[in-house]
Amino acid sequence: MKTKGTAVITGAANGLGQAHAVRLAKDGFDIAVADIVEPNETRKLVEAEGKKFFSSIVDVTSEEATKDFAIQVKEEMGIVTALINNAGIYPHALFSELDFKLWKKILDINLDGTFLMSKAFVPQMIENNYGRIVNVASTTFFMNVTHGSAYLASKGGIIGLSRGLASEVGANGITVNVIAPGLTDTKMNRKLAGDEAFESFLQLQAIPKNLQPEDMSATVSFLVSEDSAMITGQTIIVDGGQIRI
Ligand SMILES: NC(=O)c1ccc[n+]([C@@H]2O[C@H](COP(=O)([O-])OP(=O)(O)OC[C@H]3O[C@@H](n4cnc5c(N)ncnc54)[C@H](O)[C@@H]3O)[C@@H](O)[C@H]2O)c1
Repeated sequence: MKTKGTAVITGAANGLGQAHAVRLAKDGFDIAVADIVEPNETRKLVEAEGKKFFSSIVDVTSEEATKDFAIQVKEEMGIVTALINNAGIYPHALFSELDFKLWKKILDINLDGTFLMSKAFVPQMIENNYGRIVNVASTTFFMNVTHGSAYLASKGGIIGLSRGLASEVGANGITVNVIAPGLTDTKMNRKLAGDEAFESFLQLQAIPKNLQPEDMSATVSFLVSEDSAMITGQTIIVDGGQIRI
């Protein structure tokens, strides 16, 4: 398949990001990954699809590292057509247990990371007069949940950032959208949320089937395609029909 340019994905060593990398490689994108751990498994999966793979150890909270990564990706991979800001953490903490350090860490990785990676790659997209940015929120932002003040603040911030940026880069052929996954069966979330949560969510969804990473990747695939050209500033919920906005 002809290349569609390079898709940059943060946090793609594991979970949803890895699934997005595989799906976008199948779609014809070369893949560049920024993660704090080596994405060896992701590399194998992407290369098995016959696509080029580049990665670097990048902490998305570092302005310097994200800027350097954008320069490296341009040199190694050419034109970046898509950016998926997926890296995120979701530690459970009641407000009474949440100290300022943990609050800042969650905001730093989830929200500042999305901002810094966008700052690093938007100039290249403007130069090319084309780009697709997909940021990652969560359905928990729309739900009645405890243990999540900082996480919800970060995800709400991501929705706000995406709306604002979408308004500024639309004339440059760049779209900015948000995917809000429901409870999805990644290794990390199975461990954190537990089997009971996955069982109980089946009762709440219109489609009683636990969400798989591939279900999220299918929506990401659409949002980075040319077919989504007139959709921007939106938040797309993928949760089997639990939340309605
Ligand atoms: N799994 C779910 O049910 C679910 C639901 C809603 C939203 N989300 C969101 O989807 C995204 C991915 O979740 P997941 O379940 O795949 O998590 P995960 O923990 O499996 O993967 C997250 C990845 O991000 C990387 N990462 C963490 N901190 C980083 C940093 N500072 N810089 C660069 N990379 C970093 C990790 O190394 C890891 O590879 C997150 O933004 C999360 O909030 C997940």
